[in-house]
Amino acid sequence: MIRKANLNDVPAIHHLEKRVLGDGLGQSFLYDELAINPFGHYFVYEMHKEIVAYVGFRAIDELAEMMNFVVDLDYQDQGIGSQLMVYVLDYLKNLGVLKIALEVRKSNKRARHFYEKFGFKASHTRANYYEKEDAIVYIREVTK
Ligand SMILES: CC(C)(COP(=O)(O)OP(=O)(O)OC[C@H]1O[C@@H](n2cnc3c(N)ncnc32)[C@H](O)[C@@H]1OP(=O)(O)O)[C@@H](O)C(=O)NCCC(=O)NCCS
Repeated sequence: MIRKANLNDVPAIHHLEKRVLGDGLGQSFLYDELAINPFGHYFVYEMHKEIVAYVGFRAIDELAEMMNFVVDLDYQDQGIGSQLMVYVLDYLKNLGVLKIALEVRKSNKRARHFYEKFGFKASHTRANYYEKEDAIVYIREVTK
């Protein structure tokens, strides 16, 4: 089941980020995003009452930026990320968003393949965005 994230989900999302990425947006950032940021849109994917994936965006007018996208290790490559992506693309479209941007590590072949599958196009590089690694910025037009 996909649903909007709420403040009670923050510890589980934080642990998910730590397990999969080693770090992430962090608890206080996530609390602020869910409690006070009117531009934040966060969703979780629940299975058996456990959060197994989450995705977050900031959307201002016609532009949205992906904040993070994580599927738990044991649940990757089972189509969960794809279901979540289809859901949020539709959600953002209904919100009036026309363009989505995201950054991904240059070496993250899996995520890059995933985003390309959903029509994101590599736009440019941000040098040393992740301390010692470049980010590739991907952009997708929502109406396509
Ligand atoms: C990227 C991620 C969100 C995708 O979610 P998912 O649930 O695994 O995605 P799906 O199962 O729907 O689809 C996975 C696709 O990646 C492909 N894939 C899997 N491993 C891969 C690899 N090592 N290299 C290239 N492609 C790979 C699969 O073949 C599948 O593509 P296909 O449908 O064309 O076969 C998830 O893997 C993840 O959380 N990764 C770690 C966190 C991360 O890097 N997040 C992105 C931060 S910008």
